[in-house]
Amino acid sequence: MQTLLRPLTAAAYDQAIALWQACEGIGLSDADSRCGITKYLERNPGCSFGAWDGERLVGTILGGHDGRRGYIHHLAVHPDYRKRGIGRRLAEATLSALKAEGINKCHLFIFNDNAEGIGFWESLGWTLRKDISVISLVLEKGTC
Ligand SMILES: CC(C)(COP(=O)(O)OP(=O)(O)OC[C@H]1O[C@@H](n2cnc3c(N)ncnc32)[C@H](O)[C@@H]1OP(=O)(O)O)[C@@H](O)C(=O)NCCC(=O)NCCS
Repeated sequence: MQTLLRPLTAAAYDQAIALWQACEGIGLSDADSRCGITKYLERNPGCSFGAWDGERLVGTILGGHDGRRGYIHHLAVHPDYRKRGIGRRLAEATLSALKAEGINKCHLFIFNDNAEGIGFWESLGWTLRKDISVISLVLEKGTC
């Protein structure tokens, strides 16, 4: 049976967080609380997708933009469902939604040691930047 893609909503949070916890390469933080993800999805409607095998959530991608550039987070496919094109379909769905919003370039964060993930993105034509580092600051501890 073909895995179906549907827009991701907060109703799928419990399945999504379980999937992310089961996937190496996905970094989780307080931003991934139920209310953090709900806020993210409300702020970026139609740009995040889930891959469903019946009622089972087997893949996710979060997409959004700030009006200038697009950003992708939490592309994850359950280990039992990999190498079937689901990751590619999820990436294409989010990129086409971002393009429809007038976004013409997209970035994502990935751990330096995630060779599998980097290989995946490079196979889709993405370029690993060597000229940029991420600098972060915690503004306030806690959740939303
Ligand atoms: C990365 C990940 C999402 C890929 O999902 P997937 O469903 O297995 O990927 P796909 O089957 O759609 O692969 C798409 C293409 O990428 C290629 N590819 C996948 N993994 C690759 C790798 N490690 N190196 C090179 N190419 C790779 C495939 O060959 C395929 O190309 P093809 O269609 O020409 O054969 C999955 O491995 C995963 O969930 N990893 C853990 C979480 C993670 O690291 N996410 C990325 C961080 S943002």
